Amino acid sequence: MNQIRVLTVCLGNICRSPAAQGILSSEAAKRGMNLTLDSAGTAAYHVGNLPDSRSIAALQKIAIDITDQRARQVSESDFDEFDWILAMDRDNLRNLKKIKPAKCRAKVVMFGEFTSGQTYGEVDDPYYDGEQGFIIMRQHLMDISQAFLDHLEMLNQTDS
Ligand code: 4NP
Repeated sequence: MNQIRVLTVCLGNICRSPAAQGILSSEAAKRGMNLTLDSAGTAAYHVGNLPDSRSIAALQKIAIDITDQRARQVSESDFDEFDWILAMDRDNLRNLKKIKPAKCRAKVVMFGEFTSGQTYGEVDDPYYDGEQGFIIMRQHLMDISQAFLDHLEMLNQTDS
C-alpha cells in the first residue's frame, strides 16, 4: 500500500484528535498498513500541551501511549501535506472549510462520514465530561478507525 497521510482534527487537539491518532496508529500497525499520522486543533488554546490526562489514561488502558504528542493548530499547508483531514465534529469541519484552499490535496471530511452513504456520527467533545465520557469517546473512535482502515484497504485493492 502506498503511504497514506492522515491528519485528525478537533477543537483543542488535546482530547479527541490525539486519541484518534493513537488508535489509528496502533490499529494500522496491527494490519501492516503504512500510514503517516498527525493531529491538530482548529483552535490554538492548548498549543504545545500534552494530550488531556483523561485521554492519556483512557488509551493507556488499552496499551496505547499518546504521551509523545503535543498540541498544535491546523495550518494552511496541512491541506496539501495530507491525503485525508478528518474532523471530529461538524463545527470542526465548518472551521476547517473556512481555511481550506480552493484547490488542495486533502479530502476534508468528518471522521464519522469518511465515505458517502454511511455515517458513524460526530465524535462528541468529552472535555466537560468525566472519565466515562472518555471511555465512550475511545470506543467510538475505535469503531470509526476500524471502518476507516477497512475503507483504505478496500481503496488500495481497487487501485492495484
Ligand atoms: P478536544 O476537546 O477538541 O477534543 O481537544 C477540547 C479541549 C479543550 C477545549 C474544548 C474542547 N477547551 O475549551 O479548552
